Amino acid sequence: MARKEIIIAIDGPAGSGKSTTARFVANKLNYIYIDTGAMYRTVALAWLRSGLNFLEKEIETLLPNLHIEMQQGEAGQIVLLNGEDVSAEIRKPEVTKYSSSISAFGSVREKLVAQQREMGVNGGVVMDGRDIGTVVFPDAELKIFLIASVKTRAERRQKELMAKGHDESLESIINAMQERDKNDSSREISPLRKAEDAIELDTSDMTIEQQCDFVISKASEILKYI
Ligand code: DC
Repeated sequence: MARKEIIIAIDGPAGSGKSTTARFVANKLNYIYIDTGAMYRTVALAWLRSGLNFLEKEIETLLPNLHIEMQQGEAGQIVLLNGEDVSAEIRKPEVTKYSSSISAFGSVREKLVAQQREMGVNGGVVMDGRDIGTVVFPDAELKIFLIASVKTRAERRQKELMAKGHDESLESIINAMQERDKNDSSREISPLRKAEDAIELDTSDMTIEQQCDFVISKASEILKYI
């Protein structure tokens, strides 16, 4: 019998190391990595391009014709918006800013959560986001909730931005991050919170290798028994 492939849910605030950890773990296990934040970012980008007002009832009109595809490319995950590669554009600060507000709309979440469930239905996925362990896959075999101090998270984000040629002060990154943390944790629908059965890991003083090793060891324990 083929070995069962599990679902690994990795949630946490921005900059907690979710995507790097999830990507590494997926590679190691030969699973598919799904970055659900990229999907909310893509909706934000579609809205920014649309010229519509920032109102749920207007944004809803975009949803039926908005097709998001996630592909696994050589250099990482590729995000397609109606066939166009928007992987780089969705990382721009303006998209980041609106992705948090747009993700609070019920109609947006309904569409994306349904697609995420479809993508993970057969297991063999590592999915990162804010509500994977609580809402998208409450029965995921392994749930990790990553946290880190806001200073550590902002420093990581600054390094990432610098590597892409964007120079932003630590203060402005901390301010934007705190604003986004507040929005993501206080929204009414599917706020960012740790699932009761998730393992919380504070990554403030951990290297990426240590974070990844921790998740791999937890996954290996589970895979031994299924
Ligand atoms: O992970 P990220 O920073 O790329 O996510 C962008 C925004 O999308 C984030 O501010 C909150 C939202 N998001 C969400 O509400 N639920 C998810 N599962 C993933 C992201």
